[in-house]
Amino acid sequence: MSPMDAAPRPAPPRINPLQRIWLRELGMERLWLRTPPAVPVAKTAVAGSGAVPGQAPAGVSPGGPNAAPHSPIVAPSPVEARRDAPAAPVAEAAPDATPAVVPAVARAAPAEPATGRASAIPASILNRTGPPPRPAPKVEVQEEAPPPIPVAEAVKDANLEQLAAQVVACAACGLCQGRRHAVVGQGAQPTRWLVVGEAPGEQEDRQGQPFVGRSGQLLDAMLAAVGMSRERDVFITNVIKCRPPGNRNPKPEEIAACSPYLMRQIALLKPERILVLGRFAAQTLLGTDATIGNLRGRVHHLKTDEGAQIPVIVSYHPAYLLRSPSEKARAWQDLKLAAREL
Ligand code: URA
Repeated sequence: MSPMDAAPRPAPPRINPLQRIWLRELGMERLWLRTPPAVPVAKTAVAGSGAVPGQAPAGVSPGGPNAAPHSPIVAPSPVEARRDAPAAPVAEAAPDATPAVVPAVARAAPAEPATGRASAIPASILNRTGPPPRPAPKVEVQEEAPPPIPVAEAVKDANLEQLAAQVVACAACGLCQGRRHAVVGQGAQPTRWLVVGEAPGEQEDRQGQPFVGRSGQLLDAMLAAVGMSRERDVFITNVIKCRPPGNRNPKPEEIAACSPYLMRQIALLKPERILVLGRFAAQTLLGTDATIGNLRGRVHHLKTDEGAQIPVIVSYHPAYLLRSPSEKARAWQDLKLAAREL
């Protein structure tokens, strides 16, 4: 054995996993990791081991026995990146810039590994021809949106202000796509009467306030006839907070999605009584499919979660009264019933 043979085998250059990926992409991983040819011991040792120069022994991954498999690309953790590669580019070492699994395209390699050894690459290697390096497999990172919170859960502890913000931001049903404004409600607090209509119409959708069109003018006149005003006594809202396209009837799923807002409004406003206008609102609030003719003319009660019983009076919708003025006499009876000391 010559003194040359006894010389210690130079340690292979230390590179971190990211640098290994760069080298692989450049097609230079094996060449780079090979011990420099100037040290003959390396050649002898490789030959003596029975391994093919430039290839890892069978059963050992090319990156060494402890090297991680490289498919899919798993970026080193920020801690590993800092520990193994002090000279790595800042972006690689920044803790929050390193997701656990990163798409290959998202992590562009710099032109040279940042080891300070780039100048040692022989020109013959840099200029070599051959098949282009295989692109690393892409790993798509799917950012999963958190599941939406159901309306009933979201409104549970909301105050009126928070509730209004939730309604304005609501996307619990398809009606949010066509709305200009969600219409939360408007009126007096403390609230003597809560008036509940069906859903915003075109004017309400434009202005963001309930009952502002012709129906609203009639409603104000009806309320004034029993000494009530929306500024002083009445809070006005709807079962559905967004306008259904073309003023169509709301669908059951839209009612189900929206009604927790109304229930929370009732719980917070604690009205002395509720005047429900129109078949749709009455059926929704009272949980019945009875007709208006059946429901009006008597006092119903809505049981709150706190165990209170709020009197509910059903009457015709102002839009119906505009079309059927002869029914105004009955509506007047309903208002007088609502205004009575109950
Ligand atoms: N009709 C309703 O039911 N509500 C409104 O806000 C306007 C018209």
